[in-house]
Amino acid sequence: MTQPIVLHGCFVTGTDTEVGKTRISAALLHWCVSQGWRSAGFKPVAAGLELADNRWINADVQALRQAGSVPLNDAEIGPCQFKAACAPHLAAAMEGRVIDFDSLLRAARQLARRSDALIVEGVGGFVVPLGADKDTADLAQALGLPVVLVVGLRLGCINHALLTAESVRARGLRLAGWVGNTVDPDMPWVDDNLATLRDLLMARHGAVGLGWVPRLLDPSPQTILSHLDPAALRQVFER
Ligand SMILES: Nc1ncnc2c1ncn2[C@@H]1O[C@H](COP(=O)(O)OP(=O)(O)OP(=O)(O)O)[C@@H](O)[C@H]1O
Ligand SMILES: [Mg+2]
Repeated sequence: MTQPIVLHGCFVTGTDTEVGKTRISAALLHWCVSQGWRSAGFKPVAAGLELADNRWINADVQALRQAGSVPLNDAEIGPCQFKAACAPHLAAAMEGRVIDFDSLLRAARQLARRSDALIVEGVGGFVVPLGADKDTADLAQALGLPVVLVVGLRLGCINHALLTAESVRARGLRLAGWVGNTVDPDMPWVDDNLATLRDLLMARHGAVGLGWVPRLLDPSPQTILSHLDPAALRQVFER
């Protein structure tokens, strides 16, 4: 495996897009800050900008900045941002741009030099194309960080979680932990699904369950963190 670039950190992936990666990443950052670590979020590729106060901003980048403790500007947290909220290689093509893989790694290393903990939020699911010959799994592999999987709890999530776990392990990465995040609050048999995820992800991949997050009125880092297990978090971040 590639040498990790930072003392503590993880690469947060998900079973899909919109499953809570940003919310969980912000909560993990909040926990890292509470450990006294200089903590930075990183969103290597962000697709989807909105206009706020005459400035184009990406919501994920803003959330990661607010949760971290290293003073960083938008371009440092999100070095590669596109306007359209779609697959990144398509968003790039719409703007006549390409995603420069090596510059993403340089940006990550720059953040790592200024941080004790780096939380990298992936893009969409685990294997998202970043161009003709690279994808987000290559990025996770090059960063060498343990992976945390956000499982969006809804029908079909067990299969998606196991497929993702296999893919993470096939890249030689440690699947350090997983979080069940409620996407469908009406999902039937949630407890049974969680028990199955807990058993299979541990037995097959050694991945620790970090917690179950209900659908919250206030999905702030503090509130989400109150649903995660501190002892399990320590296992993810220990070296
Ligand atoms: N547990 C929760 N309770 C309430 N709302 C949540 C919860 N988890 C996520 N959300 C909301 O669901 C939406 C998607 O979450 P989030 O942006 O974290 O997903 P994501 O996986 O980062 O998406 P993307 O793939 O676009 O980066 C957001 O509006 C977020 O506030
Ligand atoms: Mg996100």
